[in-house]
Amino acid sequence: MLFLKLTLLAVLLPGVSNEEGFQGPTSFYLIQISSFINKSWTTNQGSGWLDDLQIHGWNSDAGTAIFLKPWSKGNFSDQEITVLVDIIRIYLVGFTQEARDFVSQFQIEYPFEVQSRAGCELRPGELPRSFLMGALGGVDFLSIQNHSFVPSPESGWRAKKFCRLVSQYQGICDTIDNLLYRVCPRFLLGVLDAGKADLQRQEKPEVWLSSGPSPGPGRLLLVCHVSGFYPKPVWVMWMRGEQEQRGTHQGDILPNADGTWYLRVTLDVATGEAAGLYCRVKHSSLGGQDIILYWGYPISIGLICLAITALILLFLIVLALRFMKRW
Ligand SMILES: *[C@@H]1O[C@H](CO)[C@@H](O)[C@H](O)[C@H]1NC(C)=O
Repeated sequence: MLFLKLTLLAVLLPGVSNEEGFQGPTSFYLIQISSFINKSWTTNQGSGWLDDLQIHGWNSDAGTAIFLKPWSKGNFSDQEITVLVDIIRIYLVGFTQEARDFVSQFQIEYPFEVQSRAGCELRPGELPRSFLMGALGGVDFLSIQNHSFVPSPESGWRAKKFCRLVSQYQGICDTIDNLLYRVCPRFLLGVLDAGKADLQRQEKPEVWLSSGPSPGPGRLLLVCHVSGFYPKPVWVMWMRGEQEQRGTHQGDILPNADGTWYLRVTLDVATGEAAGLYCRVKHSSLGGQDIILYWGYPISIGLICLAITALILLFLIVLALRFMKRW
């Protein structure tokens, strides 16, 4: 019955229209994380992503989608969105029930976790690519290749048995096929277009230096912080003159809460060798004008300026006081 419902819903959704010419993110996918804690307790988390940008959440109590951006619905009508949300709600309820029924048949023990990721990718000049991957207990379980379920070798007989089982349900397979290969690429194009202004914006990085925890006696860890930039691609290097410092260590690019990015780039040097080193940042928002910050240099110049300003101020105050006395 569930399968029939899913099929009917999916047939209502029209197929792909071909458009070209977009930049920025290239994929859209949904993530499902289901934790089966015990026989009666399951939590489902759902989210929708454009590459590494989350644009949808899922309220699992209400069974409704959360649209995190004003353009998260792309160019789909409210009716189409309702149909999709219904599919997801029915799928999650059905999935939870079926998984509980399968526990003994597949000799799985509580607690266990199911993760899946399904979506599509459109790269300029390439054919659209769709994907679905599932994992059980953190281990690859199955994927979809060439429109059919393929068990992952790591998961042995369970995955094989599951794929054989699910392949018998033509309705489910057709629904998934339609969602992955037709609905997803069309949705992705629409959402890329609707969110164009947001996705193609340029935000300049803010750069500052600090010293990290000392790597050892007589050594210094120089840290270059680069924050608030968008889009994600960035080039940051510790340099001396024209020479890139080979010991430069780049951390992971981490998300800020406002959708921009943060990166920390470090260099471990002998204390005496820090002078003359600088951190160089290239980013598309800077229009070729790299940001350059010298180690120690800006601070001493800043201090000198501050000292001079303070002296001038003092001088003026003394002058003013004298005038006032005379008057
Ligand atoms: C299942 O887990 C929940 C949350 O940990 C707990 O509150 C509940 O009592 C458990 N139920 C059973 C039947 O063990």
